[in-house]
Amino acid sequence: MSYFSSVLYRLRRHQKKRAFTGVRHSALDRAADYTRRNIDRCKKELAEIAEITAIDREGEFTSIYSSLLRPLCHLVFSKKRKEVRSILEIGAFEGRSTIFFATYFPEARVDTVDGFDGGSDFSREIDWAELEARFDRNVARFQGRVTKHKGFSRIILPRLEAARRSYDLAFVDANHFHDDAYIDTVFAWAMLREGGVLIWDDYTWFSYKRPLCNPRAAIDRFMDVHAGEYEAIAAAQLVFIRKLNGTESRIID
Ligand SMILES: C[S@@+](CC[C@H](N)C(=O)[O-])C[C@H]1O[C@@H](n2cnc3c(N)ncnc32)[C@H](O)[C@@H]1O
Repeated sequence: MSYFSSVLYRLRRHQKKRAFTGVRHSALDRAADYTRRNIDRCKKELAEIAEITAIDREGEFTSIYSSLLRPLCHLVFSKKRKEVRSILEIGAFEGRSTIFFATYFPEARVDTVDGFDGGSDFSREIDWAELEARFDRNVARFQGRVTKHKGFSRIILPRLEAARRSYDLAFVDANHFHDDAYIDTVFAWAMLREGGVLIWDDYTWFSYKRPLCNPRAAIDRFMDVHAGEYEAIAAAQLVFIRKLNGTESRIID
């Protein structure tokens, strides 16, 4: 075996092992430690913010997705809530995260993308017409600040990019299959401003039998390809990275 193929072999084995064993991407180590040390404080502080605690009391929700979204956003943005003015959300479901964003970031407008059909991950038994109606009722009070873009993300995201939308924060939380998570990420990253924050949910979601089909493979791969363009700032079930200024991997030697 040549030196080159033995390095390649070891790299592939390492990547495969990482995908199987649940060892997180090394870029996340510090962010994950920081998150672990501060999460309880963030939960406590959030419990004192009346408009946040009102969300679950006043909304119509059947599921709690992204349970750590609120404390991790608080960890990252507590002193900068008013500086976030534009948000892209991919995956809205009943609007629980949409409403959180619109509430926690009072100056932000939110573009939210959902096909309201579950993609390929969800049970066909959900009544999606009723679910979409519930989303509409839940976000009605944010009319003017929340815009629903109904459709497949691969169709909607290029349109938003073509319309030159840009965002301070982007949340990727739609289909879990590697290809979908990766494509959603590519568009979200392209539209994210420098200094903006990208959030992925489901780093620890492992329902596909083949590990490389799960969202984490897409997240790790994206972080590998774009190393040097971001700093990891929080990590648990969700991963937060900040886009650095003036970096671009697309450089030819
Ligand atoms: C996990 S849920 C989103 C949960 C929501 N962010 C929250 O925290 O309450 C995923 C949503 O993504 C939508 N979805 C899945 N694949 C999609 C795709 N390719 N394009 C658009 N929406 C999609 C589903 O219809 C579903 O409503």
